[in-house]
Amino acid sequence: MTELERACESFRILMEEQQARIAKMQAEKVDFSKKDTVTIGLVDGDGIGPLIMNQAVKVLETLLADEIAAGKIILKRIEGLTIENRLAKNQPVPTEVLAEIKTCDVLLKGPTTTPMGGKMESANVTLRRELDLYANVRPVSIPGEGIDWMFYRENTEGEYVLGSRGVELPGMAVDFKVTTDAGTRRIARAAFDYARQNGKNRVSIVTKANIMKKTDGKFTAICHEVAAEYPEISVDDWYIDIMTANLVNPAIRNQFQVMVMPNLYGDIITDEAAQIQGGVGTAGSANIGDRYAMFEAIHGSAPRMLEEGLGDYANPSSILKAEAMLLRHICRGAAAEKLENALENCKTVVTGDRSGATGAQFTEDLMMLL
Ligand code: IPM
Ligand code: MG
Repeated sequence: MTELERACESFRILMEEQQARIAKMQAEKVDFSKKDTVTIGLVDGDGIGPLIMNQAVKVLETLLADEIAAGKIILKRIEGLTIENRLAKNQPVPTEVLAEIKTCDVLLKGPTTTPMGGKMESANVTLRRELDLYANVRPVSIPGEGIDWMFYRENTEGEYVLGSRGVELPGMAVDFKVTTDAGTRRIARAAFDYARQNGKNRVSIVTKANIMKKTDGKFTAICHEVAAEYPEISVDDWYIDIMTANLVNPAIRNQFQVMVMPNLYGDIITDEAAQIQGGVGTAGSANIGDRYAMFEAIHGSAPRMLEEGLGDYANPSSILKAEAMLLRHICRGAAAEKLENALENCKTVVTGDRSGATGAQFTEDLMMLL
């Protein structure tokens, strides 16, 4: 076989796998208001992960104390999603860890380090795919400026689904981007449902359909199809380049409400949005599927902070915001609201270095407000 034939053969296998994935996409939604017990898996992750998770777990135990005592909520610690164990097992999510995770309903997860280069996939990407967490939901708000954005990022396909499985030929490399009808329809529905249920009247579709004509073209077309089912909501579309500019344009940025987009654009623009809000340490992130959901900080594991001895100064705000989203997802709206209010009113400032409070101080002050 020539190298070209080998490349074509691996392309064929990839396409077959992707077609098979479409067939597996329908799942039934869990209704948490009707579930007797909810199991929350707690996964530390790497770097500052265990440190911020400690703070988040203290808050969770306080907020849910009665239901934990009554056995209605089960908090389950899951070990082994560490970079050391993943490298030792040569698996982005070791088999036994994934099995434990699948016994839970929802997960609160600290950041996990992604090995650079090599072949190993990011644990996040693996979990999103294995648990079919198709909606990455990231809110950003700056009340003083009237900014209240909600990003619906497609989370299981696009540039990510085959991101570790590109093809190399002499002198060149090819990666693949995959957009499916079903995958687009479900993220579009999630975005429009959110808008409808939260009194929003505008959804903006963000792509680069002028260049990615097939994939982003399909994404745009299907979002418009879904939009037709929500006549009370206005819809507009934008290219990602101008949208990144819009977010730093004070004249118009507070007019955007809900934004829906393919995976990679969502990855990039939500970091930008979080930075506008005050830093990537300040935003929470939810990965939602029909069966499972995973809530995490938007930032990484910050190994540099540990190297510099600054672990105690890691900011737990992002994971705590994710925790509030988790509470809302499992229909514990009152607890979610308590946490959100406390986060909004806590005046203790964590700067990530010795000039600010430690994560533990912040959490202690926050818990006084619960
Ligand atoms: C995010 C992160 C991840 C992503 C990484 C850690 C794989 O940047 O959640 O935005 O690219 O999606
Ligand atoms: Mg990112």
